[in-house]
Order: sequence, then structure tokens, then C-alpha cells
Amino acid sequence: MVISPYKTKTVEKIHLLPKKERARRIKRAGYNLFFLNSEDIYIDFLTDSGTGAMSEDQWAGIMRGDESYAGSTSFRNLKRAVQNITGFTYVLPVHQGRGAENVFNGALVKSGMVVPGNAPFDTTRAHIEYAGGTPLDCTIRDAYQWKSSHPFKGNVDLRLLEKALSAYRGRTAHILVTVTCNQVGGQPVSLENITAVSRLARRFRVKLFFDGARFAENAYFIKEREKGMEKKKIPWIVREMMRYADGMLMSSKKDAIVNMGGFIALRDKEIFSLLAPRGILMEGFLHYGGMSGRDMEALAVGLREGIEEDYLRHRVAQVRYLGEGLLKTGVPVLTPVGGHAVYIDATRMLPRIPWYEFPGHALAVAAYLEGGIRGVEIGSIMEGRDPATEKNKRARQELLRLAIPRRVYSQEHVDYVLEVFKRIWQNRKKIHGVGFMKEAPILRHFSSRFKIL
Ligand code: F0G
Repeated sequence: MVISPYKTKTVEKIHLLPKKERARRIKRAGYNLFFLNSEDIYIDFLTDSGTGAMSEDQWAGIMRGDESYAGSTSFRNLKRAVQNITGFTYVLPVHQGRGAENVFNGALVKSGMVVPGNAPFDTTRAHIEYAGGTPLDCTIRDAYQWKSSHPFKGNVDLRLLEKALSAYRGRTAHILVTVTCNQVGGQPVSLENITAVSRLARRFRVKLFFDGARFAENAYFIKEREKGMEKKKIPWIVREMMRYADGMLMSSKKDAIVNMGGFIALRDKEIFSLLAPRGILMEGFLHYGGMSGRDMEALAVGLREGIEEDYLRHRVAQVRYLGEGLLKTGVPVLTPVGGHAVYIDATRMLPRIPWYEFPGHALAVAAYLEGGIRGVEIGSIMEGRDPATEKNKRARQELLRLAIPRRVYSQEHVDYVLEVFKRIWQNRKKIHGVGFMKEAPILRHFSSRFKIL
């Protein structure tokens, strides 16, 4: 058992509503879990983004926040922390990850260009497309095979990448590698793979960037799973990962354990000069970029705490404890369990519900009804419709994601979730598929209303 390396100083009350009341509230929410109020929920595993618990040092930083428009000490503290941890020189603050994507892709991706790499997160994909580019998913095949236990399912398939780089010579904006790769289950990328990708990048004279939202969890997996890495310190592994890249985009709401914030960190001055005017235009002046001074102060502290080894050991162990507990019950889970979330394979759990009756969402509704637990479907509802044919697109997998906020829940909470899923597993044949009551035209998972079939 890995004991939690922190204790509680401030608490937030949570409450489990009676079952009848839960049924009433989710019906009122049109069976869309995004329309539930936070007090309707007992255990909130909707996302690990911006939902972590800050430390006493981060709260102390909040009090020290320097709110000067330009030249604040808080920005300089943040810049120093980013430089020390990543080794990148230039730091452009932004309000969150998609702010970074907007500034970055708008400047570097031109119409007709491609961005190869592993599978990008959906806002990342959308920003590349919005700039006129096309992301090319070159993730290894193992990532999509549930039977595979590859230790680095986030890796880039080097043959596919090389093919893409040859086919799109002069039209490749850059390579983007997401560490860990959220889109395939929070799966890590090995240092060996990063090194090989960077070699290809240099050969084809394109830049390599990371989407580093969960870079610290990735570093921990490298330590745990990669040959020769077990004795290395996490800060060393992080620097080593970054050494091969030209920069990173960061949603600080994940591994930097703050509720809001982000940055772009870069090695080259020229790229910084390209991005800086867009940063000012879209996010705010170069010394705050959509964050207040206090946010930057908390972020600087969170970045350092996010790479502490005892914290990461407990973090990864907690997510694994949930995943392995579910597996013991019989619930099919994507393995190896990733860094920030457990993904339940709803197709295998509910084989009688066809993909167009959205088994991932049916399971999400069941988890709320049975235990007040909120997860999120990652499947064909999220995939949307084909704009040309207007038909439902079929996702590669129908999943329910249970993402664990950082430093928030105890093992007792996870044990409770396991108990609830044991009951759901025993009664899984009683679960019905879902259909649309009122379908939203875009990003339909956020605002559609559903009915139980
Ligand atoms: N990149 C990755 C890998 C992400 O997982 C996210 C967000 C973003 C970029 C965008 O960052 O939210 O700060 O604008 N992922 C959240 C999630 C929303 O629930 O997985 P953002």
C-alpha cells in the first residue's frame, strides 16, 4: 500500500443524495451529467483538470501574488520555475491549455499543413483544424488494442511518422507529441521513443513540441517502466524528456495542480517572437497572459510539487488501485492503467448495447444512479456526426472515463467507487442504451439531452 504523502488541513463537505433524489435530478438534467450541479454529486471523476487540491504553500503563494500589469515578481517566479524544471528559456503565460493551442497553432500552422504525432486531445485537434491544418495520428497500433499490455502505449509509430514526414515535406508545421497521451487512456511515451522522434524531426528539419499537460506523470512512468531509468530522479527525467523538444504547451490544470492557468515554453527566440504578439492579442500582456499574479505564484509552486516523487508514486498508485480493483470485479478496463484516469470498456461490459445506443454514456448514467459518481463518456457521443453525411461517427472505442482529481480523494472514496461498480457489474444486464431527446449541433456531449431507451 502506498500511503498518502499529505494530510488534510481544509475540508470540503460532500453528501450522497438518496437514490430516489438522484434519479429525479439526473432526469431533470436530461441524463446529461454536465447539467448536474456539483452538490448533486458524491464522487466527481468527471475530470482531473483544474480539480486538484492546492497545498498550503500554494495558498501562501496566493497571498504573495503581485498584481502589477507588467514586470511582476509573480511572473518572474513562474518563469524561473518553468526554466528550472523544463530547461526551456522563453515562457509565454496563457489562461489554460486551449489558450496555448490558440496562440501556438494560429501562428505556426498554415492552411494545408499537417501536424503528425501521437493522438492529440480534442481541443488540440480542433485548434489545428481551425488554423487550416490536419493532425495525423501516428500512435502505435497497440494503443488501440485492449489485449496489448505495451508499457508505453502513447508511443509514436516511427514508421508511420517517417512516412508522414516524407509525404508532407515542406507542409509539416511541426511534430506534436502528447505526454502522457490522454486520447488513448493517459498512456505514457518512452524516453527511447522521444529520442527517436526527435532524430526524425532533425532529419526532416521540423520542430518537435510536447503537449505537456501531464508531463510529470509521464516522467514517473519512464522511471517505473523504462530500462535503466529506475534509479534516476524525476527532475532529471523531466529535463531529459524536454532536452529533445523545441518547446511545450502546458495546461497547468493537470500536473501543475492549479485550478486555472497555462503556458508555452520555448527554446528559440524566433518562435517566441512569432507567438508573442498573438499572446498579447488573445491572452494578455507577456507577463500575465490571462492569469492573475496570484495564479502565477500558485502555479510556480505547483510545478515543483507536481514532480515530487512521493506525490507521483501515490498519485499513480491511486489510479492503479481503482483500475485493478475494477478488473478484480470483472469490469473490463484498459490496461496498463494510465496516469490520470481509468477507462472502462463499455462495449465489453455491456455487449448487448450497440454503439449507436452509446454504451459508455449508459454506464455513466448507471454510475450516477447507483452511487452518485460522475464520469464521462469517451465514445461515439463525443465523436459527433460526419459533417458531410450527417451520420453518427463511430468512435474507435466506447469508454467511460473515471478521472481522478489530484490530492482530493482518499482510498476510502476509491473503495466506495469499487463497491458501487461491483453492484453495477452484477446488475449490468438491466442497463439500457440511451438516445437523443434533443441533440446539440456542435460539441454535443456538453449540451444534448438524452432519454433512456
Ligand atoms: N491537452 C491535453 C492533453 C488535455 O488533456 C487537455 C484538457 C488540454 C490539452 C486542454 O487544456 O482544458 O486547460 O484548455 N483536458 C481536460 C480533460 C479537459 O478533462 O481531459 P485546457
